[in-house]
Amino acid sequence: MKAHIVLAHPESNSFNGELSRISKSNLQTAGWEVTYCDLYTNGFDPCEGPGHYLERSNTEQFHAQTEQRFNAENETTPHDVATERDNLLQADLLIIHFPLWWFGMPAILKRWIDRVFVYGSVYRGEMRYDTGICRGKKMLACITTGASEDSCSFNGREGDSRLLAWPMLFPFRYIGFDVLEPTIFHGIGGVASIEVQEGGLSDLDRYIKQWGNVIRNHQKRKITPFNQSSDFDDRKKLKPNAPVYSPFISHQSTTP
Ligand SMILES: Cc1cc2nc3c(=O)[nH]c(=O)nc-3n(C[C@H](O)[C@H](O)[C@H](O)COP(=O)(O)O)c2cc1C
Repeated sequence: MKAHIVLAHPESNSFNGELSRISKSNLQTAGWEVTYCDLYTNGFDPCEGPGHYLERSNTEQFHAQTEQRFNAENETTPHDVATERDNLLQADLLIIHFPLWWFGMPAILKRWIDRVFVYGSVYRGEMRYDTGICRGKKMLACITTGASEDSCSFNGREGDSRLLAWPMLFPFRYIGFDVLEPTIFHGIGGVASIEVQEGGLSDLDRYIKQWGNVIRNHQKRKITPFNQSSDFDDRKKLKPNAPVYSPFISHQSTTP
């Protein structure tokens, strides 16, 4: 079995870095073949743009999806992207580690998605959702927040981090993954602990143990439910009797 681990943190000795090494060592101990990408240390260039493409379908105007597909078809996908794409597609399990930054994933990880989810080879019209290329594979996100668990709950000041996770994980569902329930560790080195100087070291130790358990038992972890393609009509609207799994796709508008 193969796993690919992606770390999106500027300091490899951070708590996130430590969690990512726990993922790696636990999987290796269990006999997994593991590839590991520390995006910052590896110097992954996150900016999609014309400079990456020696071969162009259209040299007049840059259109990302057109060039991604053209280069995928010609096997001239930029080397750094091709390496990550192959790691992604060969993995039975993908694990991503990142801190919550401004209520989302760090830009480098979002842009890893922008570049590595190559139009033409990782997804295209008939290869998405239920027919995504990664169907049958699992992905697991490990997220840390600076804010406390209470303030990241459904009625907390920071907004419900489980809801925030939905749009961050949807791209993985889009390309077919079974998205496992994410793990979110709260109160890690954020504003509160910097200002109050409460490191919460015992919490960190507890979280590290907890994460080891999550990794060792990930096969039993709940899969986040998403609507199936058959839940939508010809206009790609949710059918009246289809189940609802999130406020992002529902029968009634939830916007205020
Ligand atoms: C640019 C930036 C934005 C941040 N935004 C948030 C945020 O929106 N919510 C939050 O709870 N913490 C936020 N934090 C705190 C980080 O989530 C926190 O420092 C991190 O999870 C701690 O993990 P680490 O010790 O591995 O860095 C932010 C930190 C930075 C540097």
